[in-house]
Amino acid sequence: MAAVTRIFLGVTGASGAAYAATALRALTDAGCEVGLCVSRAGAHVISHELLLAGRDSPRDPDGVIRDFVTRSGAAPGMVTVLGLEDLTAPFASGSSLAPAALICPCSGSTLAAIAHGTARNLIHRCADVMLKERRTLVLMTRETPLSLIHIENMAAVTRAGAIVMPAAPGFYNNPTQVSQLVDFMVGKALDHLGVPHGLLARWGDGAMGEPTDPMETNP
Ligand SMILES: Cc1cc2nc3c(=O)[nH]c(=O)nc-3n(C[C@H](O)[C@H](O)[C@H](O)COP(=O)(O)O)c2cc1C
Repeated sequence: MAAVTRIFLGVTGASGAAYAATALRALTDAGCEVGLCVSRAGAHVISHELLLAGRDSPRDPDGVIRDFVTRSGAAPGMVTVLGLEDLTAPFASGSSLAPAALICPCSGSTLAAIAHGTARNLIHRCADVMLKERRTLVLMTRETPLSLIHIENMAAVTRAGAIVMPAAPGFYNNPTQVSQLVDFMVGKALDHLGVPHGLLARWGDGAMGEPTDPMETNP
């Protein structure tokens, strides 16, 4: 699979902002230019989970997004922050040649909008474009348990060509840190985007972590 050089990263208001930060950094580490778009709820979750700024909605969501980019460690100059309402951005048009988009994390709300083609903001519209142009769209959903509505929306986007990837990391690499679980999920997403990375050890390649007893470390 050829590596992509230009990619859209949509960050929505599902829990798991650490996945987004790791994805942003890994994409730029791989030499991708990233168009980043964060929903209002996405900025709220980033503020709460990554910036540890409390439960309230942030007063300065643009400042939250700037801090998010800086703290992610993404390569300077490789990230363009796009406005949520900016439907004039190149990613909003099928004529732009961006080959792939990742929505990470993807809320049930954004999943529903994509499933029904409502395209009311740039994240929805970019996903819509990827599907109509038969390009790669990966949705890292996060919700549990799932209602039939979520499941039917997942089925609809899958039929339309998206890859639905629930944030459900494996434990077979014997992880000992949360960051390894995050890396596992982001690595799986980047595999589907065709972006090289070293985030996860592959089964059978001899680079697995030392087995630990989970019952001992988490009594
Ligand atoms: C702290 C926090 C955590 C949330 N976690 C989830 C979640 O894991 N999954 C989900 O579907 N929605 C979650 N929500 C609700 C969404 O943010 C909400 O449905 C929002 O309207 C999504 O909008 P967006 O898709 O435009 O980002 C969470 C909200 C907050 C404030």
